[in-house]
Amino acid sequence: MPDRFFITTPIYYVNADPHVGHAYTTIMADVIARHHRQRGEEVFFLTGTDEHGAKIARAAEEAGRTPAEHADHLSARFREMARVLGAGNDFFIRTTDEPHKAVVQALIVRMHDNGDIYKGAYGGWYCTACEAFYNEGDLAEAHTCPTHGREVEWIEEENWFFRLSAYRDRLLRHYDAMPAFVRPRSRMNEARRMVEDGLDDLSMSRAQVEWGVTVPWDPAHTVYVWVDALFNYYTALTYAQPGTDLVDRLWPPRLQLMAKDILRFHAVIWPALLMSADLALPEGLFVHGYILKGGERLSKTTGNIVDPFPYIARYGLDALRYYLCREIRFGEDGTFTDEGFHQRYTSELANDFGNLVSRTTKMIERYRGGAVPTDPGGDADLAAESVTTRDQVVRHFDHDDVTGALDAAWGWVRRLNRLVEEREPWALAKDDARAADLDQALFSLASGLRIAAILLWPVLPGSCAQVLVALGEPPDAVSLDRAAWDAGTPAARVTPPDPLFPRIDRAEVTP
Ligand code: MSP
Repeated sequence: MPDRFFITTPIYYVNADPHVGHAYTTIMADVIARHHRQRGEEVFFLTGTDEHGAKIARAAEEAGRTPAEHADHLSARFREMARVLGAGNDFFIRTTDEPHKAVVQALIVRMHDNGDIYKGAYGGWYCTACEAFYNEGDLAEAHTCPTHGREVEWIEEENWFFRLSAYRDRLLRHYDAMPAFVRPRSRMNEARRMVEDGLDDLSMSRAQVEWGVTVPWDPAHTVYVWVDALFNYYTALTYAQPGTDLVDRLWPPRLQLMAKDILRFHAVIWPALLMSADLALPEGLFVHGYILKGGERLSKTTGNIVDPFPYIARYGLDALRYYLCREIRFGEDGTFTDEGFHQRYTSELANDFGNLVSRTTKMIERYRGGAVPTDPGGDADLAAESVTTRDQVVRHFDHDDVTGALDAAWGWVRRLNRLVEEREPWALAKDDARAADLDQALFSLASGLRIAAILLWPVLPGSCAQVLVALGEPPDAVSLDRAAWDAGTPAARVTPPDPLFPRIDRAEVTP
């Protein structure tokens, strides 16, 4: 039975258009999902939109739409983003889906039955951008939200509460037993501190917010948007494939991605909700860094967003995927710049990889009539290096190091470029006595390039499929077993492709 790999992104708020920060998490999840598909695992990749709550209702009002119209409009933009990014998500959940709402209701009834929900009075400072309450002591200057710098509102109402405080010890025990529950480790420590510092019970319903899932036993209330949203990861499996019980097959998630803005919700509240609803906890959460521009996190609230679509239009999708994976070390913050993007496109994608593809295929065409020679068997060391590279790539993925995996695969691309310089096939071609050496050089280049295309496929799916076709392989021959020296099609027919990364003049990409 193949391993199962259920991976999720956060579900994005439909208050504004998607930006490169959202694209980033979706791309990284897609890269990891593709890698696991290459291993032969049964992968399920979930993304979607978070559509309820005061924040969305207000954004709709400002746009002169009903919340439902607004959510339809923007959810479609996020769905389109996933498609344009090449994301192979298996489902796209919307929290306005009827089956999602019904399952959320069933889950909170279970929590209520378990004695974890009670009615209480509450007063607190609410930030609508965060959809969260703050204690007086956590506010920034002049009663503003520490994340958004916006004024918070005093909200006082009778609400339903979740006994989060009762889960303190169980959460700490879980963190002790599963130190890799939140990764990187620094984020695990942060989550632990949040719990050790003390947990207040969570107001989990709102009487003043109409746009949400109705609390089944008290229809005057809607479910707090974060409770509604977090449960998406579970509810999606109940209806993504009608007739198949995906919960049984796939629950719990193997990997959940997010940035640190929502660490508390995922590392503290989410496991407590699951414990209360008698559900298994996810195996791991990975918290990546922020994409910054001009030193600040991209965010609609701070006004410095980067739109991914113009970059795709100008440089191609694979260039955006590559830049984000390589420039922003997975797990750390990184800065998005037009100069850096252009530089990596030109010197790495066009020069390192594009040239290698074009030289290799053209030389096989010119010197061997387009047929990859049979392996004369003289490059055992190089074959061994390819195995080491593949193992490194796999190991990096096992350690959530997507950037490291890409660096290792890129090292192999550079190794092949050096091979061209070392062997000088054009010189060998002039000397009939060296025909066997030329066969060896061309076989090694073709084989090495095929392996590079497989290792790079999760990041550069379109270009690598083209490389495989150019090498006479099926475009979907990307399983990791085939990233082996002799796993190519014998005497494959090579056709040089159009330039994969054509030269592009440097110019500002204006959104
Ligand atoms: N709706 C909630 C999540 C609910 S999940 C049950 C939410 N939505 S969001 O639209 O604000 O998306 C936040 C997520 O988008 C971040 O955690 C991260 O995955 C991604 N990013 C948004 N801006 C980003 C950057 N500037 N940099 C990196 N990731 C970014 O929170």
